[in-house]
Amino acid sequence: MRWLIVGHGKITANFIEAARGIGHEVVAVAGRNSERASTFANKNGIEKSGEDLLILSEGVDAAYIATPHSEHCNGTTTLLENGVPVLCEKPLAVNHRQVEQMVDTAKESNTFLMEAMWTRHLPIYEEITDWINKGLIGEPKLIDASLGFNAPYEPESRLWNPKLAGGSLLDVGIYPLTLADLIYENSPENISALVELSPDGVDAHVAMTLQYQNSALAKLGSAINLSLPNSALILGESGFIEIPNFWCAQKAFLSQGSEKRESLRPHDINGFEYQIHEVEKCLSEGLMQSPKVSWECSLSMIRLMDNIRSQIGVIYPVDSEGHDGV
Ligand SMILES: NC(=O)c1ccc[n+]([C@@H]2O[C@H](COP(=O)([O-])OP(=O)(O)OC[C@H]3O[C@@H](n4cnc5c(N)ncnc54)[C@H](OP(=O)(O)O)[C@@H]3O)[C@@H](O)[C@H]2O)c1
Repeated sequence: MRWLIVGHGKITANFIEAARGIGHEVVAVAGRNSERASTFANKNGIEKSGEDLLILSEGVDAAYIATPHSEHCNGTTTLLENGVPVLCEKPLAVNHRQVEQMVDTAKESNTFLMEAMWTRHLPIYEEITDWINKGLIGEPKLIDASLGFNAPYEPESRLWNPKLAGGSLLDVGIYPLTLADLIYENSPENISALVELSPDGVDAHVAMTLQYQNSALAKLGSAINLSLPNSALILGESGFIEIPNFWCAQKAFLSQGSEKRESLRPHDINGFEYQIHEVEKCLSEGLMQSPKVSWECSLSMIRLMDNIRSQIGVIYPVDSEGHDGV
């Protein structure tokens, strides 16, 4: 496949390495500033660069959006309206209104759209769900997972700036919420969240407790001002599963009584290749959405994060654009 990448920040290195590693080409890069985009293109051996998404998308098979959260909706809808399939970084957008707009645009233009929630494609999760489906830990009753790192406070940066929809929930809290969704396969019935706000009113640290069907619980956390354990535990009535670095996991441990078993599923490249393969597969089958990260999956995740944001009082400038926002 021939790809356009939109944005040329930190994460694009992973995408380029994985795409090229599976024989795809990155042929164009779009940025806000032609000079910066051109420097990036030259450094990375990318043919075309510039600011105009539509010119750059000519002749590509799909685009990968890797801009700050506040920019996902604009870039994605522009491309979808012109029939360019899109893989857009997580979260698909800032709030439910934006995600709905993106999904509506994909439907109207008959064009593929998928959120780049790469964790959902990692091979280790096939093993983990297999253990659970075989009843090896009994019914899962508690998920304990967190993802957080201590980033310097830089008010203008993507992580901290409310205008760019910064904060820990949208950036990393989405991973433990995704894990709970993967395991429980339904939406929580009760949610409670507490927060430490940054000086600019984004969530530096969030602690969440969620209750699912049959009183199954999840204790989840996210932070951009604190290093958290960054691992996950799935506890059932007769055993438990530990997943180190669960958002990019390559191994898991199953414990039953005094017995502990390890499963290893190393990435072929860096882990991004599985979602890129998924886009290729969906396009070759003529699908507009992926069964692994469906539109409903992204819609229900953003509804959940809107709900959590309303509890912790995090409101972004973009929330008041258009309709009612959060
Ligand atoms: N899947 C993962 O593991 C993973 C990991 C990290 C991040 N992400 C996601 O990837 C996306 C990008 O993250 P990143 O860490 O790569 O970001 P980053 O390093 O801050 O880069 C952001 C890029 O977007 C461009 N941009 C466009 N509009 C912008 C605006 N209004 N303000 C600032 N920059 C703007 C920047 O271009 P300029 O040169 O013009 O500033 C830059 O190229 C986010 O959605 C994030 O959640 C995913």
